[in-house]
Amino acid sequence: MILKIFTHPEPVLNKKTDPISVQKIKELEFQKFIDDMTETMYVEDGVGLAAPQLGQSLKICVISKEYSLNHKDLILINPIWEKLSRFQAWDSEGCLSVPGIFGKVKRYRRIKIEALDRRGEKISFEADSFFARIIQHECDHLDGILFIEKAKNLEEVSKKL
Ligand code: NI
Repeated sequence: MILKIFTHPEPVLNKKTDPISVQKIKELEFQKFIDDMTETMYVEDGVGLAAPQLGQSLKICVISKEYSLNHKDLILINPIWEKLSRFQAWDSEGCLSVPGIFGKVKRYRRIKIEALDRRGEKISFEADSFFARIIQHECDHLDGILFIEKAKNLEEVSKKL
């Protein structure tokens, strides 16, 4: 089922999310939500999507298989990350919750992530370049932060193609 995307300035987008218990992860209803999140991300042509963007203040995000580990849909529940690179790089970002706006954001090039997967099992891995950037963007959503709050050179791109 395709879910409605909440857009700026919906307050849920600026709220820090709550962690999710392993018990809740295993609930059928929550598993359905994960499937719906993933489907919505692909239909809306996003490279990642976080639960607050669907109006749910929950600590979960999904990342497109196009950029993720082994080209599989990546589900991150209660993710935490730390930098592995010293420096940050600027690059262009956009967001389904801020349609038509793009800007440059500074992100770490290489990070290490720990999270739970959709079975509630611990996973840990390293990410770099655009993959690392998407994860940092999605983890910001889980902290109630939108990229426009840290971007420079914000610009509006016409939706007419
Ligand atoms: Ni976003």
